[in-house]
Amino acid sequence: MGSLDGKLAIVTGANSGMGMATVEALADEGAKVVMLCRSEKRGKDALAKLLEKNERQLELMLCDLGDFDSIRSFAAKVKEKYKKIDILVNNAGFIALDRQVTKEGLEMQFGINHIGHFLLTTELAELMGEGSRIVNVASGAHKVGKIHFDDINLTKGFNVVKAYSQSKLANVLFTRELAGRLRDKGITVNCCHPGAVATNMGVNRETGFGKTITRMLRPFFQTPAQGARTAIFLATDESVKDISGEYFYKCKPAKSSKRSKDPELAKKLYALSEKLTGRNAE
Ligand SMILES: NC(=O)c1ccc[n+]([C@@H]2O[C@H](COP(=O)([O-])OP(=O)(O)OC[C@H]3O[C@@H](n4cnc5c(N)ncnc54)[C@H](OP(=O)(O)O)[C@@H]3O)[C@@H](O)[C@H]2O)c1
Repeated sequence: MGSLDGKLAIVTGANSGMGMATVEALADEGAKVVMLCRSEKRGKDALAKLLEKNERQLELMLCDLGDFDSIRSFAAKVKEKYKKIDILVNNAGFIALDRQVTKEGLEMQFGINHIGHFLLTTELAELMGEGSRIVNVASGAHKVGKIHFDDINLTKGFNVVKAYSQSKLANVLFTRELAGRLRDKGITVNCCHPGAVATNMGVNRETGFGKTITRMLRPFFQTPAQGARTAIFLATDESVKDISGEYFYKCKPAKSSKRSKDPELAKKLYALSEKLTGRNAE
């Protein structure tokens, strides 16, 4: 018997790093876990690995968070199959040194890390209710971030720090604004910084570029299972069941940037996200 028996969880970016570790932990507590992955091959490989030793209730469902049609079709399939989502862990993340764009032409880090998750979450919120929890995996990198409303897709002066920190600040601002909007429904929304974790973050999936650096840094970094602890804690722990709109690090509330606490900024970003996705969660 696990504490999550009968519960349904969805984890994005479930085939790698902390996403995979989160799937493992939630499934081992008895939850059925839908693994949102963009690549069928990487998803199937991860699924096979997760089923090697233990019996776990897992379902692989494909979705590219950089493609609105793919997100809408994923959400439609979930709504067709399930009645209630208890846990949504928005973990998937993308970082790249060069400027790339999503199918809709959004700068890719903002497009996947924030907008993709915004659309997914607002679509899936319909299936959430009293006691459901949303966890956004943000980053301490949000502290150097700004939301560049005048050039949200960073067409001028792109650099990786500017792009990644903007996307991660957006994760924290979205957490705060959504928490307020979903409070009456009994749904909590929190976010976290996992710390420095040795994963596939920054590794080019086609060329493998970046793998050597990650391998070299491994002894100094946390393992994915360690890094995933705060997200798992927020998704499951009884002590945080009534806490919403907060930023956590090492399973404790932590200080986030001044900008990330600006309610006007959070509203402005939410309005822009609605406009970009044509979506309204209420
Ligand atoms: N590692 C760190 O030190 C660190 C620090 C602070 C915050 N974080 C955050 O932690 C989260 C997890 O990252 P990680 O470190 O575990 O990295 P990871 O091993 O690279 O995993 C990232 C996951 O996101 C998926 N993903 C990327 N783009 C996607 C898309 N368009 N649609 C669907 N899934 C997509 C990846 O799928 P593919 O494998 O198919 O590419 C992968 O499963 C991220 O949000 C990251 O920003 C990480």
